[in-house]
Parts: sequence; C-alpha cells; structure tokens
Amino acid sequence: MAKGTWYRENYMISTSPELIQPEAVNAAFESDAIYWARGMEPEYLKKMLSKSLCFGVYALPESSSELAGRSDPPQIGFARVITDEVTFAYLTDVYVLEEHQGKGLGSWLVECVNEEFASWPHLRRVMLMANLKEGEAFYAKMGMSQFKQGENGFAILNKQGRGSAMPV
Ligand SMILES: CC(C)(COP(=O)(O)OP(=O)(O)OC[C@H]1O[C@@H](n2cnc3c(N)ncnc32)[C@H](O)[C@@H]1OP(=O)(O)O)[C@@H](O)C(=O)NCCC(=O)NCCS
Repeated sequence: MAKGTWYRENYMISTSPELIQPEAVNAAFESDAIYWARGMEPEYLKKMLSKSLCFGVYALPESSSELAGRSDPPQIGFARVITDEVTFAYLTDVYVLEEHQGKGLGSWLVECVNEEFASWPHLRRVMLMANLKEGEAFYAKMGMSQFKQGENGFAILNKQGRGSAMPV
C-alpha cells in the first residue's frame, strides 16, 4: 500500500496504516457529525480499515509535554479510499473534527488525496457521493463534478483519471 506523509503547521496527514486509530474513527462514526455512518464492532472496523487506503489527519504537539503520556499524536481527521490502487477509487468518510475545522485542513486533506490519485497512471475514475448543498463545492476543489443527481439531496460526483479510455 502506497504511503505518503504531508506536514502543515502542527498537523500531519499520513497514509500509514499503523498510525490509524480505530477508536478515534469509530467515535467519529458514532457522532452526529458523521451522519452517514454508524459505529461498528472492532472486527468489522479493523477489516474495513485494512482493506481501504486510509488518510489520517493528526494534531502534532508543539512540545513533547503536550503528548501527556500518549505515544502517538491524536487523530483528528480522516478520509478513506476504497480502491484497487490502480484503476478505480471511491472516496468516502471524509471528516475533520469540529474543534479543528475552519483552518483549511479539510481542503488540504482532499488535496493530499488528489495528489495520491495523480500518481496513479492507470486510474480510470474516482467517484464519491456528496450532499448538493456544501459537498459539491467542497469536492469541486479536487476536480470532482456531478455524474448523477439523486432525489435525496445527494449527488454522485466523479472525475476521470489518466488511464480512462472513455470520452467523458
Ligand atoms: C467538510 C469538512 C471536512 C471541512 O473541513 P474543514 O477543515 O473545516 O475544511 P476547510 O477549513 O478547508 O474549509 C473548506 C470548505 O468546507 C466548507 N464546509 C463546511 N462544512 C462543510 C460540510 N459539511 N460539507 C462540505 N463542505 C463544508 C467550508 O465552507 C469551506 O469552504 P470555503 O473553502 O469555500 O470557505 C468538515 O466540515 C467536516 O468534517 N464536516 C463534517 C463531515 C462532513 O460533512 N464530511 C463530508 C464532506 S462533503
């Protein structure tokens, strides 16, 4: 699995599977903010994470004393790509915890995901589902546009990759 790491101020984004904190992801899934998901039992959560390309967002301490006994920086955001890592990718479970929102982290996260996609020469298509109100504008930043509008206030967005042989 490809591993990337990006740094910005006191934050890090990483695709290292070892850094992902399943409890943090599950707590987010259980919260109202991640309205499309529910928490799940550890064995299913572990399987889901291990079979996805996961991007974790971590808040780095300004000094080692801030870690307060933790060996790892807290995970405050996430994006999950369901993929063969060559031709197709479905992006989901994108979030930044509320106390860290509004600092550009969400935009940076999808930029990092996009950078990963740009390095796949045979990528045909990226897809995701987003709400029409804010989601469409948010994902337009990574070149996603509407493929099909549903009747429930959501749309399927997509973009082609370098490996696509389709005209659109
Ligand atoms: C969407 C989300 C990841 C943005 O994170 P963030 O760190 O605040 O993002 P940024 O600071 O980079 O702001 C990016 C944009 O997100 C927009 N935004 C705020 N809430 C949003 C939401 N629920 N869905 C989509 N976009 C949202 C902001 O208006 C901002 O737009 P701007 O750049 O034109 O000002 C964050 O609000 C979140 O986790 N929301 C709850 C989960 C969610 O709805 N995820 C699905 C995203 S479609």
